[in-house]
Parts: sequence; C-alpha cells; structure tokens
Amino acid sequence: MPAVEQISLTGMDAASAFPRVFQASQPLGLGDAVSWVSQYQAQVESQLNQSGAVLLRGFGLATDTDFDGVIQAFGWPNFTYADSLSNAVRRNRTERVFTANEAPPDVSIFLHHEMAQTPIYPSRLFFFCEQPARQGGATPICRSDLLLTRLAAAAPEFVRDCETKGVTYSQTMPPVDDLDSGQGRSWRSTLSADEPSAAEAKLRQLGYQWQWQDDGSLSVTTPVLPAVRELADGSRAFFNQLIAAFFGWQDARNQSQKAICFGDGSAIDGDAMSLAIDLAEELTVELAWQRGDVAIVDNFRVMHGRRPFQGERRVLASLVA
Ligand code: FE2
Repeated sequence: MPAVEQISLTGMDAASAFPRVFQASQPLGLGDAVSWVSQYQAQVESQLNQSGAVLLRGFGLATDTDFDGVIQAFGWPNFTYADSLSNAVRRNRTERVFTANEAPPDVSIFLHHEMAQTPIYPSRLFFFCEQPARQGGATPICRSDLLLTRLAAAAPEFVRDCETKGVTYSQTMPPVDDLDSGQGRSWRSTLSADEPSAAEAKLRQLGYQWQWQDDGSLSVTTPVLPAVRELADGSRAFFNQLIAAFFGWQDARNQSQKAICFGDGSAIDGDAMSLAIDLAEELTVELAWQRGDVAIVDNFRVMHGRRPFQGERRVLASLVA
C-alpha cells in the first residue's frame, strides 16, 4: 500500500493544523483506502476530536460509490436526509451519499452547524469532491469553540443572552422544492408529509408553531433551541445556525434578518451578528477542493459553508447520526 503521511497545508505544524491532513503519496483506490481506514481509524478519530476537521487527500477515490465505501469503512451510523428537517434541496446518489446543496453557484452559503436550526442534527459530516469548480467553490470551515471564546470577550452580554435564553428560527417553506434557493426544500419533503394535516401533526410533535400562507407555503417557528453547546471535552461552542440564518436565509419567501430571535421573543441585535460573522471570518480556513478529497467535519465543533463558484462543482456529502 502507498504511504500516507500527515502534512500541513498552511505551514503550521502538521500535528496541530486545521484541518488535519492525511496525504497519500500514490493513489490507493477503494480497496486500499478501506484497508487504510481499518488500520488507522483510531488515529483519524483522535485527530478529528482534537481539531474538528480531517482531510484525506490523494487516496485515488473517484466516484460516489468509492466515497460510500470509505464512509462504510468507518462504521459510523447513518443520519438520513429523508428523516432530517434540513431546509436544503438535495439528491441522493447512494443510500448514504447525496449532493451537498443544489443552490445556484452565485449563492453563498454562510457558516453554519448542519441542522442546528432543528431539534435533530448529525454529529459528523463527510464531504467528497467529485468535481472541483473551475473557480471558487471552497468550503469555508470555522472552529465554533474558538469563536465563542472570542465573542464572549468582545460581546459578553450577547453570549450570555445566547446561553440563558436560547434562540428560535422562523422560516417559510414552499409547497414544492425551489431550486433557486439555498433553503428551498418544500414542506412536503422537509416534513415527509403529503397533506397539510400530516405536516401539522409532525410540527406539533416537534414543538413548532406554524401558519399557512395563501400560496400554499408554510411558515414555521422552531421551539426554543440552545445557541451554545458543551462539547465532550468540556469546551463550549457557538453551536447554532444564527450566522447562516441572519445573513443567508433570503429568498422569494424569506427575509433573513427576521429569521432569528432569542427564546424569550426579544430581538437579536444586528451589531452582535455582524461581530459574530467578522470574528468567524477571521477564524475561517478555506477547504480548497481537489478531485477525490474526502473531508470529515465534527459538526459540534466546526461550522461549514460554501463559497460561490463558476463552472461545474460536485461536492457530495453524507451525515453521521
Ligand atoms: Fe451544510
């Protein structure tokens, strides 16, 4: 089997780099990649737990089924898109693998923790670059634990409110998928419901409030969700969807600045959100994709997004329960 070495993309020490990178000297192909995972999984997990993101590069993986094989080699439980309340439109390639987001190339997807705007979220994410964009299209990643520390120093009152009040998210879902929006998943698909009555039953069970609109779309507000999460090692992270919602949930049905508020109904200050996005950008690292890259992201510690791009970009994803 070709050698795999831990390297750094940023000039930082390889052992403390973000993300941690495992680079193969020669393409492995699926069989050897699976063997490598079974041999080095503990090391990958340890690096993932320390840094929040791991990149496997040069492993010679080409297709969605190669990606699926590597995912299965890790043996972690699947988190299905069908059961999720994700608001992005996606297409499944295999049972575990789907297209990352069908939103148009010029749409920026702001930093977020996957599905932190719902009560059900994945613990880890896999990404796979099947086809890098001609230009742009990086996946920005940002450590939310470091962000919370910076925010707490700069805006202690805002962080205290996040901790004590929690947050709610409001959003209007179309009756059929809207492919022009990064949040265009229909209420039928989101709630796995054909009929309004079934949608209402699901929302009631999840503690949401809702209102039907004349055009058949459905406006919903989540129950109060935490905005800060304690991680397994005792550190705390800005685990929420506030940045993506406040700056990005803009489409034919939604005005992004009205998408969030504190759990007691009080408004979230726009200045605090501007500070949060500025500090997050300072901490952000660009995952500039190369064909065949596999990235693993700790969804509790690290936010991700998508930069605009030109050309065709196919980045696939898979979620871990
Ligand atoms: Fe995402």
